[in-house]
Amino acid sequence: MKISSVVVKAPSSTANLGPGFDVFGLAIDAFYDEIKICRKNDSGVKMINVNKVLINKRNTATITIRCMKKEFGINDGVSIYLKKGVPIGFGMGSSAASAAAAAIGFNKLFKLNLDSNSLIKFAGLGEKASSGTIHYDNVAASILGGFVIVKNNPLNVFTVTPPQNLRLCLAIPEIKIADQKTKLARNVMPSKIKLKDSIYNLSNATQMVYGFMNNNIKTIGESMNDRIIEESRKKLIPGFLKVKTSAIKAGAFGASISGAGPTIIAVADKSSELKKICYAMKKSFNEENVKCNTIICKPSKGALK
Ligand code: HSE
Repeated sequence: MKISSVVVKAPSSTANLGPGFDVFGLAIDAFYDEIKICRKNDSGVKMINVNKVLINKRNTATITIRCMKKEFGINDGVSIYLKKGVPIGFGMGSSAASAAAAAIGFNKLFKLNLDSNSLIKFAGLGEKASSGTIHYDNVAASILGGFVIVKNNPLNVFTVTPPQNLRLCLAIPEIKIADQKTKLARNVMPSKIKLKDSIYNLSNATQMVYGFMNNNIKTIGESMNDRIIEESRKKLIPGFLKVKTSAIKAGAFGASISGAGPTIIAVADKSSELKKICYAMKKSFNEENVKCNTIICKPSKGALK
């Protein structure tokens, strides 16, 4: 029997976590996008923006579904009701959440029985439209939940259940977000890197995996060191170093740019002084004349769960 509609909720996510550029992702329960996909009589794909958040005409959900329709030769049309919950352009996997929900929803509606790597691939095609290049860290986290490690060529994603007591403090600065922000943030990155910086990042990245696999929050936080991406992107976030340092001084185990920014994410334990960490980050942004909202959150399950 044909299914007439499906509803999928996909979480926000943070990518990179310092040294794992385009490889590490973590689903976080700060925000969710919700999508309802319904069959309709014609063959088109129609987007209905439920809560009227300003979204790009070429949004990731529509692109993901168009790609899937084409790949599987599906002529039936769909209406996509998008309830946007993840703030757009702040480095919390907003475009990925819509793409992830769309891929899972379309898969269910048309009983395609795709495996998770295929869903991630299709959601990644949607992501490409927003950042210019394919990266799977956010979509993989949003689909699978928890901590994800993305291996490319061929794509394969590994997941690790994060420590139960892991908490994240997000400092979301109120700054003007450029059009195609992720593309811009990717354009400032170096085309060549020093071997010693690559070794530094690699050792921190492997240590982070060790931290996740051994439920060691301190090790996870202390691995948030990156000499490649942070160095080139920090100029895009007023007061970045100050905010990062103040989070650590207030008790966080580590902090870095969340994805392509400008949100800054700090890693802490349930028993850390989480409000104090948030306050310190907010104060540092304020000292740069930047208003900022803070959120305490924890890892999320993925949209597939
Ligand atoms: N890994 C990507 C980047 C995530 O940092 O550009 C973007 O959300």
